[in-house]
Parts: sequence; C-alpha cells; structure tokens
Amino acid sequence: MTTATTDLPTDGLTLVQAWAAARRRLEAAGIEGPVIDARLMLEVAAQATRSDIVTDPYRVLTPDQVQTLDRFLNRRAAREPVSHILGRKGFWTIELKVTPDVLTPRPDTEVIVDYVLKTLTPDLPLHMLDLGVGSGAILLAILSERVMATGLGVDISTAALEVARENAALMGLSDRAHFLHADWAEGQPDGHYDLVVSNPPYIATGVIATLEPEVREHEPHLALDGGQDGLDAYRKLAGEIMRVLKPGGLFAIEIGYDQSRAVEALMRHAGAKGVRTLKDLANRNRVVTGTKKLEKNPLGKAPSIG
Ligand SMILES: C[S@@+](CC[C@H](N)C(=O)[O-])C[C@H]1O[C@@H](n2cnc3c(N)ncnc32)[C@H](O)[C@@H]1O
Repeated sequence: MTTATTDLPTDGLTLVQAWAAARRRLEAAGIEGPVIDARLMLEVAAQATRSDIVTDPYRVLTPDQVQTLDRFLNRRAAREPVSHILGRKGFWTIELKVTPDVLTPRPDTEVIVDYVLKTLTPDLPLHMLDLGVGSGAILLAILSERVMATGLGVDISTAALEVARENAALMGLSDRAHFLHADWAEGQPDGHYDLVVSNPPYIATGVIATLEPEVREHEPHLALDGGQDGLDAYRKLAGEIMRVLKPGGLFAIEIGYDQSRAVEALMRHAGAKGVRTLKDLANRNRVVTGTKKLEKNPLGKAPSIG
C-alpha cells in the first residue's frame, strides 16, 4: 500500500492550486484519469461545486479542507476507488450512495437504461424486475424517469439490498421500488413483468486476479465472479427471465464484450424472440436484449401489454 503524503501546503492553498497539486499527486501514483479524480475529491473536500472551481479559482481552502483532501489523495494513491472514498457515484442522471458491498455503477450499464427509456412508451404503467440490483442503479434510474413505473430489485447480498433501499429512500422512490433477498427470480410468479433487466456477475473466475486493484481488491466478488467461463449466471437467468416476463415483455441484460454469441444463444434457446446485441459508447458489445413472444388468445387477438 502507498503511504506517501501529498505534501500539500496547509496555508493559502487555492482551489486551482489544490486541483493541480492533487492531479500531480495522482499522476505520480500512476492513477488513470487523474484530472477528473482530483476534481471529484477536491469538490467534496473543499465543499465546492465544479463551477466554483472555474468561477472562483482563488478561493482559499481551510486547513481542515486541505487535510481532508490529503487523506482522500492518499487513499486514492493506494488504489481505493473514488466512489468508495467519497461514498457516492453518479449514474445516468442520478447520484447513488456506494459502499464496498455494492458494485460501483459503471457508465457501460447506462446502455440498458438508455435503451429501455427509448423503447418503452412513457405512459406505460410498467412493472419491472432488476435481477442483481446492487446499489439500485438500473432500477432507480428507470423509475426516476418513468413516474408510472414500479419495480422489484432482487439481490443475494443483504448488505447490497440495504444500500439499494437507502438509495431508493434518498430519491423518494420507496413507494415504487421494492427489494427482495432471493436467488435470482426464485419465487417470482410466471408471466408477471413487463421488463426484466440484469447486470449479473460475468467475469471468468481466473480473470479476476488480473483486474486492476480498484476492482479486484475493492469490489464485492459476488458482483464479479461469473464462474469458470463467466457465463454461470446467464445459464440460470435465461430460462428464469423468460418464465417471469409477460408475453410481449422486454428484457435487457449486460454482458462482457466477448459474450454476445454465447448469451444470445442461451436466450434464444430459452425461447426469446428478436434477440440482438447493443453496443456501448466504445463500440463494444454490451447488452443482449429481446422479447417474449406475444401469445394469441383463443379469439386470435394478441393481448395488450401493461
Ligand atoms: C455486477 S453487479 C450489478 C449491480 C447493479 N445492478 C449494477 O448494475 O450496478 C451483480 C449483482 O448481482 C448480485 N448477485 C450475484 N449472485 C446473485 C444471485 N444468485 N441472486 C441474486 N443476485 C445475485 C450481486 O450481489 C451483485 O449485487
């Protein structure tokens, strides 16, 4: 662990000087993206907004604020994620409380939110299920933009569920977001949900040790470990997702960049229709989506969703 101090002067350090010094400290520690990390930590340490740093750059930090920044920088230099140091992370348009018990929400996962919001009409009284809800990222981002929607977030980790519940409460969504401790969709009724989303653990067990320390030492292994080939969760989820979806319902599940073929095949095998893969902003395969076939009723008419 790195224990070096930042040597920040405690007297007369301005916002702009503190930002530059913090960036240099992180750069020297080999941290990727030091400019943004330095700014995020400075904002919290100095109780300044992003625009304060630009519009009031010569504001002087108090000695307490410098010490706080110093502590943050030492933790970051020791490869603790910024989200753990600050206890929060922005995702989509919301901000989430984050602890070491939940996966830090990733921008990649916003592909699911973006697709769902573009695909489902806003006035649908949507009932959704988020399997492996973690911090609540996907569920709460969608509910925050769909005032008619309700949802259930399931996780096997009770500690993660506590964080998700707290995030729902902080966002005023506790009346529409519910949480359950369960093994994936176990116990959920057949044909019940208009939408099922999931970002399951999908990293092959052997690969975890090769990941950067921020992930391998600080993220919960329950959120990462997808078994020997990374596909264990999808094997369980494919049939379960198709079972709990309403006919005509939509699913969107996150995948690793190289898992598109395997996960598409599992979903097709489980009976999914219109299966395809969406890409993330870096043009990598990121989300497999599709629907459950609409059933014809005895009169030959398709039932309406919702
Ligand atoms: C990759 S994280 C995703 C968290 C959150 N949905 C997100 O996108 O940021 C996977 C989540 O699945 C949960 N999980 C793992 N195995 C599970 C199981 N058998 N049943 C339910 N949840 C499970 C983990 O605890 C973790 O919170």
